Amino acid sequence: MSRAIAIDGPAASGKSSVAKVLCQKLNLVMVNSGSMYRAVAWKLLQLGIDLDDTDSIIAALPNLNLQCGVDESGYFSTVGYDGVILTDELRTEQVNNSVSRVASIPEIRDILLVKQRDYLKSSDVVMEGRDIGTVIFPDTPYKFFFQASEKIRQARREAEGISDSVAARDKLDSSRKTAPLKPAEDAINIDTGLYDLNGVVECVLSHLQSLGWE
Ligand code: DC
Repeated sequence: MSRAIAIDGPAASGKSSVAKVLCQKLNLVMVNSGSMYRAVAWKLLQLGIDLDDTDSIIAALPNLNLQCGVDESGYFSTVGYDGVILTDELRTEQVNNSVSRVASIPEIRDILLVKQRDYLKSSDVVMEGRDIGTVIFPDTPYKFFFQASEKIRQARREAEGISDSVAARDKLDSSRKTAPLKPAEDAINIDTGLYDLNGVVECVLSHLQSLGWE
């Protein structure tokens, strides 16, 4: 049976950077679940749908056909439509400002939950997001919750040249009714502001070893 490592945490807490290293060290697929929400937000914006109009969003969902896969390296999840993989389009200010709104809609979460769990059918995964340990893979023993101060996280985004109000997104993501951002009860909490990237990777690897990951 395939195994899942769940990494949850607020925006810019270091989830993606760490998962990118882990997937290659442990030879598994890294799934960026936030990209799926971003791809849905991008498409709805392209279609000109008012993101405050939940009925119109729900009506559009059956025709969205989000395609989730794995890239040529075999390590990284991809998202796209009609055979075209989306990358930079997902990180625009417009998508940053809309994605939490889209992610609060239960009908969208239901669709993406199935796609996220499907990855486990073909491979071990490290999946990062907001509800991976609480909702997507609640039974996995390998759960992590990353934290870092708001100041550090905002500075990380600014250093990347990305305009992203992380505090506003975290507030929306933590306060929504369905699958809010929160640590699973049995998650290992890591303050990523205390280490550099390598330090966080080493910390996760040592916990995995203690939990029996081979
Ligand atoms: O990880 P990210 O910043 O790219 O995620 C973008 C948004 O998607 C985030 O603000 C909340 C939402 N999201 C979510 O609700 N659940 C997940 N598992 C992953 C992301």
